[in-house]
Amino acid sequence: MADFKIAPSILSADFARLGEEVENVLAAGADYVHFDVMDNHYVPNLTIGPMVCKALRKHGIEAPIDVHLMVSPVDRMIGEFVDAGASFITFHPEASDHIDRSLQMIRDGGCKSGLVFNPATPLTYLEHVLDKVDMVLLMSVNPGFGGQKFLPSTLKKLQQARKIIDDSGFDIRLEVDGGVGTANIGEIAAAGADTFVAGSAIFNTDDYKATIDQMRAELAK
Ligand code: DX5
Ligand code: ZN
Repeated sequence: MADFKIAPSILSADFARLGEEVENVLAAGADYVHFDVMDNHYVPNLTIGPMVCKALRKHGIEAPIDVHLMVSPVDRMIGEFVDAGASFITFHPEASDHIDRSLQMIRDGGCKSGLVFNPATPLTYLEHVLDKVDMVLLMSVNPGFGGQKFLPSTLKKLQQARKIIDDSGFDIRLEVDGGVGTANIGEIAAAGADTFVAGSAIFNTDDYKATIDQMRAELAK
């Protein structure tokens, strides 16, 4: 069985109690903390930045923090998040002027790098940088908001991305983000994903552990 990872998106957490929410979701069995950075420019919403990432580290959070940059320009934020204790830093290729350089900056900072593909963004951006990415993130909704419905066209794209990754021979995680929950995580895994972002499906439930356990049970089927 694949090495599945569950990455709750804190976009749907209670920001007034963020430290506690992150502790709770990790205690409930989450693997990564998915950290959505929105700038009201690349996407029509505004969230949190490097100061909050740093604060979570200071609070004692040791789990990998999976920073999803929905910002333009990209590069200025990379150094900030390296310093703030990010583990993964992923960005949208359309938002970067020099994709290869941005990826290199992330790895030079000691973080794992990744590219994020919007539903209509072609995977061709990967072709010349497969040796420079640790994560491919497929958006299964248009970025900007939690609680949207999973776009079924993502399943075919996941299969295509899985083949590209396997054929490359590189160790690259395949993550999916948007509308993931207990009801569809099984078919998403069957299409090739190994890392699952889920925001509202986890944080809008009363019992995070029961929800994550149910996700793992679906993945084990
Ligand atoms: C959307 C964000 C997602 C979002 C997912 O732009 O990148 O990470 O929080 O939320 P759900 O799981 O509720 O679709
Ligand atoms: Zn995200």
